[in-house]
Amino acid sequence: MKILVTGGTGYIGSHTCVELLSAGYEIVVIDNFSNSKRDVVDKIKMITNKDFTFYEGDCCDKDILTKMFDKNDIGAVIHFAGFKAVGESVNEPLKYYRNNLDSTITLLEVMKEHGCKKIVFSSSATVYGKPDSLPIKEDFPLSTTNPYGTTKLMIEDILRDLYKSDNTWSIALLRYFNPIGAHTSGLIGENPNDIPNNLMPYIVKVATGELEILSVFGNDYDTKDGTGVRDYIHVVDLSKGHIKAIEKVLSESGIDAYNLGTGNGYSVLEIVNTFMKVNGVDVKYKIVDRRPGDIDACFADPSYAKEKLNWEATLGIEDMCRDSYNYVKNVKED
Ligand code: NAD
Ligand code: UD1
Repeated sequence: MKILVTGGTGYIGSHTCVELLSAGYEIVVIDNFSNSKRDVVDKIKMITNKDFTFYEGDCCDKDILTKMFDKNDIGAVIHFAGFKAVGESVNEPLKYYRNNLDSTITLLEVMKEHGCKKIVFSSSATVYGKPDSLPIKEDFPLSTTNPYGTTKLMIEDILRDLYKSDNTWSIALLRYFNPIGAHTSGLIGENPNDIPNNLMPYIVKVATGELEILSVFGNDYDTKDGTGVRDYIHVVDLSKGHIKAIEKVLSESGIDAYNLGTGNGYSVLEIVNTFMKVNGVDVKYKIVDRRPGDIDACFADPSYAKEKLNWEATLGIEDMCRDSYNYVKNVKED
C-alpha cells in the first residue's frame, strides 16, 4: 500500500515526503513544478536514502491520475497541490479557482473510481477569516477574505458534502497556521524566486543581502509590541502532523478538521530579534503602514489535534529562525 502525495516537491510536501519515507511508508508523488524545482525529488531521496516513483504532471489531468492509480496500490492521498499566493489570487481569481478546485475534484473522482476514499487535505487558518476571539478553535465560524482562502473553504465544503453522500470516506482537514523553517540538512526548504509576501522568506533575503530592508507592516496593532502576532510552526513539526493524520484516516472513517499550530503567538519584532540573535546577523527594518487585510493576531488552540491525532509541535521559534536561514545560505553556496 502506497501513499500518494500531490504537490510533493513543494515546500510542505517535500518535508512530508521525508517524514513518510522515514516512517517506513511507500510513497508515489506527483507535481507539475509550477512552484517547485525538479532537484527536490533527488534531495528527498538523498535525505532519506529511500526511493519512490515520481510523476511529472498536473492533478487537473484525469489521465495521469488514472495511470498512477492503475499502476500503484494507493491506499490514501495527501493533497498539497494548489496555488497559495493570497495577493495573486486577488488579481487572478480564475487561475486560483481553476487550479485549486479542478485539481481537487479531478483527484476525488479518480480516487472514487478506484475505491480509495482516504484523504488528508491542506487547508489553512485563513478559513477562520477575522476571528472574534483567540486562541482559534476548530468550531469557530468560517469565512474568507480573498479568492485563495475561498478555494480552501470551498474544498472543505466539497469534502464535507462528499462525506455526507458516502460515510465510508475518511477525511482529515488540516488547517495550517504559519509554516516556516526548513529541514536541518539544509537540502529542502522555502526560497521563493520573486519578492516574498510572507515574513520569514523576506527576513531571510534581507539577512543574505538580496533585499535591502524589511518593511514591518504596522506597529499600532492591539498586541504586545504593536506589531502583528502569528502562530509560526516549524515545517518539520507540521509534516509530522501529516503522518498522524494519515494514521487516523487509515484507521477509521469520518471527517474532521484539525488546527496545526503551536498555540504560541509571536510578534513581527520578536521574530526579527530572535532571527538576528540565533543567526548572528543584522536584519534592517523600518516601520511602515499596515498591510490592507491583515489582522492583529492569529494563533491556534492546538489541543484538538493533540487529543485526536496525538500530535503536538515540539520545535521552538529559535529552531525555526536557524533552519530557515541555514537552508537559504546552503542554496546560495550551491
Ligand atoms: P508550494 O507551492 O511550495 O507547494 C505546492 C506544490 O503543488 C508545488 O510544488 C506546485 O508545483 C504543485 N502544484 C500546484 N498546482 C498543481 C497541479 N495542478 N498539479 C500538480 N502539482 C501542482 O506550497 P506549500 O507551502 O508547500 O503549500 C502546500 C499546500 O498547503 C497548498 O495547498 C497551500 O495552499 C497549503 N497551505 C500552505 C500554507 C503556507 O503558508 N505555506 C499555509 C496554509 C495552507
Ligand atoms: C499569510 C496569508 C494567509 C496564509 C498565511 C499562512 C496574506 C495576506 N495572508 O498570512 O492567507 O494563511 O500567510 O501561510 O498573505 N509582515 C511584515 N512585513 C512583511 C511581511 C509580513 O511586517 O514583509 C507581517 C504581517 O503584517 C503579519 C506577519 O508579518 O503580521 C506575518 O505575515 P505573513 O507571513 O504574510 O503571514 P500572514 O499574514 O499570517
